[in-house]
Amino acid sequence: METNIFLIIPVALAIGTLAGVVIGFFMRRRSGEIQRGAISIEASTVSGRGAFANRKIKKGEIIERCPAIEVDEGDVGGELVNYVFYGNTEDKRLVAMGYGMLFNHSADPNVAYYRQDSALGLELVLWTLRDVSKGEELFYNYGENWWITRQP
Ligand SMILES: C[S@@+](CC[C@H](N)C(=O)[O-])C[C@H]1O[C@@H](n2cnc3c(N)ncnc32)[C@H](O)[C@@H]1O
Repeated sequence: METNIFLIIPVALAIGTLAGVVIGFFMRRRSGEIQRGAISIEASTVSGRGAFANRKIKKGEIIERCPAIEVDEGDVGGELVNYVFYGNTEDKRLVAMGYGMLFNHSADPNVAYYRQDSALGLELVLWTLRDVSKGEELFYNYGENWWITRQP
């Protein structure tokens, strides 16, 4: 049987297009979403950006180890004040890198954190307080004092 090139080319093109659509569907990313490890940064359910679980996360899993530096309170001003953590003493603040500073607050948090001195330096370690479903927003509790000090 003779091969009909006029039939093979459109069929190959159609198969290629279909494969592209299928691959694109499975690899799709929501616009603007940034992902690393178990965390995506997306539009928050409460304010601006927030951190979300991009997969199911088990209770007690460490989801982020943020390299951190402790600085004097006076070194932190403007909007940055709303992003840093309290330091070991009243006059210190902790600047956590990575996604650590992008989590929003909840009084019923699914994430907690602790500081740890590693061989490389100070870290803020974020871990889950309970099982978290894929797509859930991740919150830690900023603490009562955080909101009191920001009342108008
Ligand atoms: C560390 S930032 C969190 C990330 C921030 N949503 C963003 O888009 O960059 C802290 C700021 O988020 C907002 N925020 C955090 N939790 C909130 C909540 N539960 N309700 C309203 N605003 C919240 C407040 O404006 C606060 O100053």
